[in-house]
Amino acid sequence: MTSALKGRRVALAVSGSIAAYKAVLVARLLVTAGAQVQTLFTRSASQFVGAQTFAGVTGRPVLSEMFAPGAAGEPHVDIARESELMLIVPATADLLARLAGGRADDLVAATALCSTCPVVAAPAMHPAMWAHPATQRNLRTLTGDARVHLVGPVDGEVASGERGLGRMAEPDAIVAAALAALAPRDLVGRHLVVTAGPTIEDIDPVRFLSNRSSGKMGFAIAARARARGADVTLIAGPTPLPTPAGVTRIDVRSALDMQAAVGRALGAALDAADALVMAAAVGDYRPTSTHDQKLKRTADALELGLTPNPDILAAVGAARRGVRPVLVGFAVEAAGDAQVLAYARAKLDSKRVDVVVANHAADAFGKDDNRVTLVTRDGAQALAPGPKSELADPILDFVAKKLEEPG
Ligand code: C5P
Repeated sequence: MTSALKGRRVALAVSGSIAAYKAVLVARLLVTAGAQVQTLFTRSASQFVGAQTFAGVTGRPVLSEMFAPGAAGEPHVDIARESELMLIVPATADLLARLAGGRADDLVAATALCSTCPVVAAPAMHPAMWAHPATQRNLRTLTGDARVHLVGPVDGEVASGERGLGRMAEPDAIVAAALAALAPRDLVGRHLVVTAGPTIEDIDPVRFLSNRSSGKMGFAIAARARARGADVTLIAGPTPLPTPAGVTRIDVRSALDMQAAVGRALGAALDAADALVMAAAVGDYRPTSTHDQKLKRTADALELGLTPNPDILAAVGAARRGVRPVLVGFAVEAAGDAQVLAYARAKLDSKRVDVVVANHAADAFGKDDNRVTLVTRDGAQALAPGPKSELADPILDFVAKKLEEPG
């Protein structure tokens, strides 16, 4: 989960649908990521889920009344003013109809009508209700108003046991949509190519050379770049990580596969992408020959001939004319701080890149958190240690800033 939600004020509106139980998980994910969550119930929400559960998870009482007896002020005005995002989970057909009609007949509808922040709705209903022209008309109105973004529904089993389009998006996807709605939109119209994960160099059908890279850093960068509006091509070495929403993923195996995929994504003239972020741990060597049959064990020592792989990033750096694409390299070293920085500085020039993200192998590989320094020709900027998802944004800040400079 990402710190992009830390301290963000989210109004979580829950309406009356069986899918409402999943809103508890959404609340939990938001709170874990540091968001301040104020839950709102429609009148029928409490027939499906308990206010006490949400109060326990979010640390705030659930609000459901527009005019609570004895309470001062207008809750819908206050919540709308304070919220940076309104999430509607689930959004029933009835609630969507009320919102499309501009109704303010309960606390949820009135807050939505009063709010100026983005609104993300996760519809959930029987597929027949979703497909009905009235619902579709309401959705056109809502999304046409530009402030309402939809996440889902997805195709799958609905409460009645039937299958179809109407099942609510899963909590992870809803939180990803929330993140996208809150993100700065400074990479809209940009195409970023991001590589991630290890490469695998086959020795024979069962043996290979590889490294400990998990791919988490590159996947986090891809997800945040997408949230900030970029078109993202993620070229991934073998990793079980799920593809971030909205990202185009190309799976590769060896360094040579990765080089070919990067070449296609950047285009022959390197003008098909605005930036290349090489977060992959590309294997430096491959076996000189790959055997079709499994090598048999013998009593003799086995010498494995290794051929250097091409340096993908350095080749792009050497071919680049001018300042596009912006090039981001990584330097993972098993050395002391000063040595790591010295290596990173050297890579700025040897690979002709704009920034090198320097880190220690012991901090980086396979971990969720990392400690990195951004090394540019202007100096070194140590980022606060934290989750890889948190480190993605400062790296992308550099890319976004660089892209604003005249090309
Ligand atoms: O030289 P070193 O392997 O430390 O450089 C790391 C950087 O270069 C990373 O950004 C990595 O993705 C990239 N690289 C590459 N092709 C290679 C080896 C590394 O693009 N064969």
